[in-house]
Amino acid sequence: MRRASAYVTLLSLLLLGYGWMDIAATGTKDGSEEWGYVEVRPKAHMFWWLYRSPNRVDDPSKPWPVILWLQGGPGASGVGIGNFEEIGPLDTNLKPRNSTWLQKADLLFVDSPVGTGYSFVEDPKLFVKTDEEAGIDLCALLIRIFNRNESLQKSPLYIVAESYGGKHAVTLALSVLKAIESGKLKLKLGGVALGDSWISPEDFVFSWAPLLKDVSRLDDNGVEKSNSVAEKIRQQLRSGQYTEATTSWSDLERLISSSSNSVDFYNFLLDSGMDPLSVEAVELAPEVSMKKYARYLSYLKTSASDAGDLDTLMNGAVKRKLRIIPAKFRWGEQSGSVFSSLQGDFMRPRIAEVDELLAKGVNVTIYNGQLDLICATKGTEAWVEKLKWEGLKTFLNMERKPLYCGKGTVTKGFKRSYKNLHFYWILGAGHFVPVDQPCVSLDMVTAITQSPASAST
Ligand SMILES: *[C@@H]1O[C@H](CO)[C@@H](O)[C@H](O)[C@H]1NC(C)=O
Ligand SMILES: *[C@@H]1O[C@H](CO)[C@@H](O)[C@H](O)[C@H]1NC(C)=O
Ligand SMILES: *[C@@H]1O[C@H](CO)[C@@H](O)[C@H](O)[C@H]1NC(C)=O
Repeated sequence: MRRASAYVTLLSLLLLGYGWMDIAATGTKDGSEEWGYVEVRPKAHMFWWLYRSPNRVDDPSKPWPVILWLQGGPGASGVGIGNFEEIGPLDTNLKPRNSTWLQKADLLFVDSPVGTGYSFVEDPKLFVKTDEEAGIDLCALLIRIFNRNESLQKSPLYIVAESYGGKHAVTLALSVLKAIESGKLKLKLGGVALGDSWISPEDFVFSWAPLLKDVSRLDDNGVEKSNSVAEKIRQQLRSGQYTEATTSWSDLERLISSSSNSVDFYNFLLDSGMDPLSVEAVELAPEVSMKKYARYLSYLKTSASDAGDLDTLMNGAVKRKLRIIPAKFRWGEQSGSVFSSLQGDFMRPRIAEVDELLAKGVNVTIYNGQLDLICATKGTEAWVEKLKWEGLKTFLNMERKPLYCGKGTVTKGFKRSYKNLHFYWILGAGHFVPVDQPCVSLDMVTAITQSPASAST
């Protein structure tokens, strides 16, 4: 890791209950990295980390892109997981990642919503309760980062999300467009990319059983039981019982786990890494069972990297490098409090928001890993078909283009584009697409951002 020769550009002392200090922005001396806290609402502090690409070319006709990465959960740390386990310049062993998206764009990681990762609130009442609130907080962060730097404003911003982050990507994009229109935010929105995103929970819960039946992981009895819980979820959503639907969602996950002998929700070809003890704990309280979502994320750690432990890294070497993380503060991979506060919004669909973005002409890219279960391609296709967008029928009738990677002749995926809607089917990938298929993911992100960096850099 680059030596932490950090300098402080702005110092705001906030005496918190723990005697913490809040320092707004600092970074490496060469300016290649910058990070800090933004107080997005009084007493709600959001952490961000911007990496500037060494490959940046300044060509006014081809602006250099910035990617904002939004992690899922809700409550999973993008600064930790997305950065060190998926797309950032270094892996969890602090070794260079040859597939890093930094080759193609500047990368902005955030711990959002507040309470996630290094972000914190001084009062538990300040956790967000809805996706809209999360979008508004993120928008406040972008205002602070972009409005102060004219050169950054020339870079189009691409919001790229994974999993639950997709719901926040669309509410953020709408918030951003509003703030740009009213002159509050100086930024150019390049587009939104929704990777294995939880846009329509109803469509996903109905996709699970038929998919697992087709690949021999469930039998008809399992399908019947699953469908009855999915039907219950549908009724709860129709009558606006969103919190109850979240409880039924975890009931359904538990049912599918037991009927399938613990299929991995993030790759249906695998068994889940959950140990029997945590399964038992899950039976005790719905509040505990919701955190299952988080546990699968931590399972990624053992499957995606062989040695580096993210928790040790984020509370050790990275924290020391950043210098501004309050000393007593412990970074966590997934915040249960952030998740719990959003349980009334967790099951609410965001299809209408995608439609709104399409109608406004924003480029929307959807990508999905073939082997994902939690946000299965089958469910994604089902919600896409519900779009009211005028181009939908033409889009659905178009032929897909096969994707290859590098010099390979093996089909790595398919792509379909019509006007401002783009869909990538990524073969051989589960939920964490850039981890499972780094080569084709990098090609995809180059296309999405129209990065001026050539393929060979
Ligand atoms: C990146 O590293 C992996 C192994 O860690 C290797 O299989 C792959 O070929 C490398 N890719 C490039 C473009 O160097
Ligand atoms: C503004 O952003 C540009 C592009 O990322 C960067 O090169 C420059 O150092 C930034 N300026 C300040 C004052 O942060
Ligand atoms: C959308 O993306 C395409 C490339 O895929 C690009 O040509 C077009 O200019 C983009 N539109 C907007 C509004 O950004």
